[in-house]
Amino acid sequence: MKIIIGSDHAGFKLKAKIKKYLKMKKIEYLDLGTDSLESVDYPDYALKVAKQVAGNKDSRGILVCGTGTGMTIAANKVKGIRAVAAYDVYSAKMSRIDNDTNVLGLRGRYFPYEKVKKIINVWLNTPFSGKQRHKRRLKKISGLEKKI
Ligand code: RB5
Repeated sequence: MKIIIGSDHAGFKLKAKIKKYLKMKKIEYLDLGTDSLESVDYPDYALKVAKQVAGNKDSRGILVCGTGTGMTIAANKVKGIRAVAAYDVYSAKMSRIDNDTNVLGLRGRYFPYEKVKKIINVWLNTPFSGKQRHKRRLKKISGLEKKI
């Protein structure tokens, strides 16, 4: 599995740390920017990452902004994307088991890095349950993408 990663200026420093962490864990990644602390608009980077993830079933995305919120809202506009803004291990884990999330939104500001690593680990290593009721609910969500 390949990780597609992106951030805005507020997530830039945390993104750099995450890249080092992924490298250390020998997890392949592609960084789609931003490349500096200069102010940018998070939807631009959310879209870049989300498009790549939607187009490649063997990839998942990590998006970092100040809160993780804006990136997650924007990524969820892309067909096929199920993004979670996870502030704790439980929501990251359950978002994989129940919702088969393919994008993880992380908070770059005022958030402990130790917690970030735990969240990433659990999110990367927890499989979707594949349970019938969850498949049915996810199918309803893809149905919404067509209907609305
Ligand atoms: C940028 O200041 C900030 O609004 C952005 O990084 C993010 O937190 C939005 O949700």
